[in-house]
Amino acid sequence: MRILFIGSRLYDDVDYYVRKKGIESILTESNEDAINLDLPDQVFIVPRGMDGPKQIAVTQDVDAVVPLIGIDPPLIQVAKMKEELEEQGIPVIAADVRAVELTSNKINTKQFYKEIGVATPDYQILNSPDDLTLDFPVVLKQGEGQGGKDIRIALNQDDLKEYFEEFSEALCEKFIEGSEISIEVLGFNGEYITLPPIYKGETTLEGTHPLNKVKLGPCLIDGVDNNLIQHTAYKVARNLDSDGIFEMDFMYSHKDNQLYAIEVNTRPNGTRYLTSATCGINSLCELINMACGDFSLKDVLDKMEYYYSTEIPIGNYTGPEINEPVKSFDNNDFVVHGPEGYQRITIRAESKKELENLINDLT
Ligand SMILES: Nc1ncnc2c1ncn2[C@@H]1O[C@H](COP(=O)(O)OP(=O)(O)O)[C@@H](O)[C@H]1O
Ligand SMILES: [Mg+2]
Repeated sequence: MRILFIGSRLYDDVDYYVRKKGIESILTESNEDAINLDLPDQVFIVPRGMDGPKQIAVTQDVDAVVPLIGIDPPLIQVAKMKEELEEQGIPVIAADVRAVELTSNKINTKQFYKEIGVATPDYQILNSPDDLTLDFPVVLKQGEGQGGKDIRIALNQDDLKEYFEEFSEALCEKFIEGSEISIEVLGFNGEYITLPPIYKGETTLEGTHPLNKVKLGPCLIDGVDNNLIQHTAYKVARNLDSDGIFEMDFMYSHKDNQLYAIEVNTRPNGTRYLTSATCGINSLCELINMACGDFSLKDVLDKMEYYYSTEIPIGNYTGPEINEPVKSFDNNDFVVHGPEGYQRITIRAESKKELENLINDLT
């Protein structure tokens, strides 16, 4: 089995798994100073964009392509490449053009939720601060963006005016006071499986992004029904009707007793360490299984485990040494990830008490 991976930044997460499966690895990367270039069997430095990877996939006669791209902008080019390569018989384990168009723009996603009957916070597309009919506070967003980029919470008309000094259009959403929840869904060949929901903290009027909060898996919040979250996530995935990873953000308002869908990311995402800690399923490894023809719902269900887990921003890790493979829970109770200065630790244990002890030891 020979697989082309696109992008080296996340490759250290899967290197051990690629070796374990005896896969021959080829990788393309556009930045010759990028990390992890020493890990795959063969590396090609190519110009940015998907023309290089497309060519390498064909000339190197690979069996499948697994993009490991954790950012939104290239996803549409990846989806177009998927169309072209799959016509030539090379599977590309990624979302297709329709799924990317629906999910990479938050305005399209809102319309999609409405069409399929999934509740999402009330919203307006504003072209001027004077058109607002929603009550404050409201959340202002751009169609594209991730990690909280270009998102502000407006408490009053002055905040709204200030946002329009920078932008000419805004997706304006009702502010939901409540719990933030993410869930990963795996999809392949028309079959979907939802992994456990993860709790990412409460929303704040400061708009603190979940990246900077302590998170817990599985989501065990009073009043929140995990079955409903999984059912809704399944419905969204089935209607997106594509392959790969879907990470979905939801909010639960206790006041409205309502689950709201916020956004979908069709790519490797920040929830994956907690998912993997909580249930033993690593979404990036499952992409590789899809590429090898080894993915099945039964296999995923058979592998599922049950742990209590948490993820804590720590800046720089200084604790005890971590066993190989360092980015996996195979031989570890915790995994450290993220760039220096912004590292996070994801810890798991078989009971809540044991988890507390580990947190005290490690942080
Ligand atoms: N309607 C909302 N009500 C309250 N907080 C929100 C709302 N929408 C977004 N936020 C806050 O902003 C964060 C980022 O919003 P999101 O739409 O998920 O964009 P991003 O792609 O940047 O993650 C959310 O995780 C949440 O903390
Ligand atoms: Mg988000």
